[in-house]
Amino acid sequence: MRILIVYTTRYGTTEKAVGLAKKLFEERNHEVEVAHVEEHPSPVNYDLVVMAAPVYRDGPHWDLMGWVEKHREELEDVPKAFFLVAMHLAGSVFMGKLHGGIAYAQPLIEAFEVPPFYGTLIGGEVNPDKLSEEDRRKMVRFYAVLGEKLEKKSLFNEKDVEAFVRRVLLYYDWFGKHFKRGEVEKAKNFDFMEKVRELERAMG
Ligand SMILES: Cc1cc2nc3c(=O)[nH]c(=O)nc-3n(C[C@H](O)[C@H](O)[C@H](O)COP(=O)(O)O)c2cc1C
Repeated sequence: MRILIVYTTRYGTTEKAVGLAKKLFEERNHEVEVAHVEEHPSPVNYDLVVMAAPVYRDGPHWDLMGWVEKHREELEDVPKAFFLVAMHLAGSVFMGKLHGGIAYAQPLIEAFEVPPFYGTLIGGEVNPDKLSEEDRRKMVRFYAVLGEKLEKKSLFNEKDVEAFVRRVLLYYDWFGKHFKRGEVEKAKNFDFMEKVRELERAMG
């Protein structure tokens, strides 16, 4: 199938993950086009659109959200998936409210009538020496809130990208290809547990 990967990045980690995802999709015989949001790619005429962005200030990078906003109408008709690159992967509950982790993805889900059929978080990287002065100050505060110090850290793991690609293709076959306007009811009625039982039977 034809896949568009649209992304943004500030320090290159998301770009690295996108490059690996492209290679892995291609190894599975899919045709992949990669485009930075600044190239203003059109999401029309693809079988699948993958959106990728780092998390900044508690949400998907605004440049990706801007692209989504601009192409929302066209995107409703295309099966979509996403990954976000972040440091606070597990997430927490602060005073009864979900914070971080997969809750970062909320704006990307709420942006659509027909939401992405799959999405996940991938570990990011922080290198204080490479941050702009302003970003450094923000990151010192970010880690202070977590009770940690800002230091060089990497949570990036190629296996997370491999798992993303494997699952996107699996779930695309199960229900992703129906997750578009006009067919969405079929996908919403998908019996996930029946699929699990079917797999269990197949495994014996
Ligand atoms: C200014 C700034 C704000 C950030 N805010 C968050 C955040 O709210 N939550 C989080 O998990 N990670 C946050 N991060 C970490 C980034 O998501 C991480 O460094 C990621 O790898 C950056 O990807 P990029 O290199 O593609 O820009 C922040 C990083 C910076 C520099």
